[in-house]
Amino acid sequence: MISRNACAISTARSSPLSTHTTIRIGGPAEVLAFPRDADEVALLVRDCAERGVPWRVLGRGSNLLVADAGVPGVTIHTRDLRSIRFGDGGLVVAGAGLRTSTLHAEAMKRGLGGLECVVGYPATVGGSARMNAGGRWGETGARIEWVAAVDATGEVRTLPRDACNFGYRTSALAGLAVVEVAFRLPEVDLPAYRAAIDAIHAEKSRAQPLAEPSAGCMFRNPPGNSAGRLVDACGLKGRAVGGAMVSTVHGNFVVNRGGATCDDVLRLVDAVRDEVRRRTGVELETEVEVWGAEHVPAHG
Ligand code: EPU
Repeated sequence: MISRNACAISTARSSPLSTHTTIRIGGPAEVLAFPRDADEVALLVRDCAERGVPWRVLGRGSNLLVADAGVPGVTIHTRDLRSIRFGDGGLVVAGAGLRTSTLHAEAMKRGLGGLECVVGYPATVGGSARMNAGGRWGETGARIEWVAAVDATGEVRTLPRDACNFGYRTSALAGLAVVEVAFRLPEVDLPAYRAAIDAIHAEKSRAQPLAEPSAGCMFRNPPGNSAGRLVDACGLKGRAVGGAMVSTVHGNFVVNRGGATCDDVLRLVDAVRDEVRRRTGVELETEVEVWGAEHVPAHG
């Protein structure tokens, strides 16, 4: 599966991904690799490209649904890419696997802020950049100066902000393995900033099921509308299939109330989409990335 060179990299075989996703669902990764730096990521990707082996990147698995049957090939886990260094003028360069909450805490220690957008997200720096994570309090991409990523040929490239094409939960980083992200953060008045962060946290804890296993928002908001509000208005909160349930707190979250399978979630997603289409005419699109089960099964 991987060459002798790449074998120096820490790997596990048939490792269940349910322990690596926030919704606690997912079958085994054929190979789960833990590279320690950009060169090891590049080596893995080149190796896969040469052998025609599929590869993908896993951060905290917070926006991700993995098929019960698992995924073939190499899953590159960014766990060990946790570097962080500070430069002049609010520059912070963070490894893809660093948690955004750690980045935020370290930035605040140096009087830097501007990361309201990541409060309440359990994601990594790489995943937040890739998805341009955010919402009412801004988007991650707005604070990014450049991104270093390994492309499909195994070359490390530096993409300036403009080349990242940040959009609503999208970027040009799809299909690349992000290894480092440079942020430019503003100096803030810390007491006032901390108070604002606490208020955002309180609001999210009230409005979202942050303590329950979920993959974050399941659907993208349709233009000018809110997926959560639509699901709620259709009376679908609490609707369940197997162990998967539409959160009773926020209509755009599917929670794992114990023992849910990927298939349960996909069937529930399909049922919710059908009902919202039937009642409102709006077609909901999933925001969560799905690995190994690209086709949502027919309801029933
Ligand atoms: N609403 C309801 N019922 C519900 C849920 C929401 O009526 O069950 C209403 C709310 O009262 C509010 C409106 O719908 O008037 C919008 O809801 P909310 O403020 O919770 O924001 P959202 O559009 O549902 C977006 C992001 C979230 C992000 C929040 C807050 C998307 C798909 N979601 O949610 O991001 O945390 O704003 O900034 O863009 C995620 O990306 O995984 C995610 C959770």
